Amino acid sequence: MIYAVEATKLTKYFGSFKAVDSIDLKVRKGEIFGLLGPNGAGKTTTIRMILGLLKPSAGTVKVFGVDVAKNRKEVLKITGYMPQRFSLYEDLTTEENLRLFASLYGLKGRDLDERVGELLDEFQLREYRYRLAGKLSGGTKQRLALAVALVHKPRLLIVDEPTAGVDPPIRRYFWEYFRKLRQEGVTILVTTHYMDEAENCDRLALMNRGKIVAHGTPQGIKRLAYGGDIVELYTERRALLYLKSFDGVKTILNKDVKDGVLRVKVLVDDASDRLVPIVKNLEEKGVKVLRANQVFVSLEDAFIKLTVGD
Ligand SMILES: Nc1ncnc2c1ncn2[C@@H]1O[C@H](COP(=O)(O)OP(=O)(O)O)[C@@H](O)[C@H]1O
Ligand SMILES: [Mg+2]
Repeated sequence: MIYAVEATKLTKYFGSFKAVDSIDLKVRKGEIFGLLGPNGAGKTTTIRMILGLLKPSAGTVKVFGVDVAKNRKEVLKITGYMPQRFSLYEDLTTEENLRLFASLYGLKGRDLDERVGELLDEFQLREYRYRLAGKLSGGTKQRLALAVALVHKPRLLIVDEPTAGVDPPIRRYFWEYFRKLRQEGVTILVTTHYMDEAENCDRLALMNRGKIVAHGTPQGIKRLAYGGDIVELYTERRALLYLKSFDGVKTILNKDVKDGVLRVKVLVDDASDRLVPIVKNLEEKGVKVLRANQVFVSLEDAFIKLTVGD
């Protein structure tokens, strides 16, 4: 299988400091993949190695099967990059920036005019076309940076903390736009330190201190952190006689009784499979269930659990 990105034992030392520690990463074609972790985790360093901007101390990276160390030019042709820090020309206008990058990617004449026009419309930049990039607001700068990253219609878009420090409407806009790109078949590798945003990703790698501590779907990572899903029941105290014997029930996490009602949290292997049967089984034993639901666990809590003592 060819992955959009396949990093193997990727490592980077800065002096004696290991910023990226032998990570394996596989981004599938057509997915939104999140590289998630706190500041200093090693996300930007990883991305810069994927793009061939930084030479790994060890390990390899392939982008759509192309070895970055051997054919960086090819990789840049199929990849768009929006860096963490605004890196466009602040003393050029919005349109001049777009035209410059379009020409760097080999567009000329009418093709270039057309593409720039498309991007001005697509990213609602037309009203700012004659404004210097340095004078744009934060959100508009971000839209321009994304437009520039997409100027050559890449198959892979790499975005480094696109939503750091921007307002919620722009954050939402970005995620909606990523979903739209995914629909068009573009693969997206996005880094963020916002755990809530990472819920939008198809799959994630959780990074901490240069290492990948977990990877999988948001749901899968939460399961890994807790050893399963958590369901909460409001029921009769007698439920405790039976709960542990039901299929898929791993353990009772905590319980309390208030006004004669037992509230109990139970760890199960898969809440979507087990919740309904648990309620049914209890009722068959004559135990009333007042309420049953899966407990929402945040990625942030999962991350903390996975990195405790690390
Ligand atoms: N060029 C560099 N020289 C020395 N240390 C660096 C360099 N770039 C990054 N680092 C260090 O490597 C670690 C990871 O940085 P970075 O990849 O930027 O993390 P993140 O993007 O997750 O915030 C940090 O401790 C950072 O200070
Ligand atoms: Mg970074």
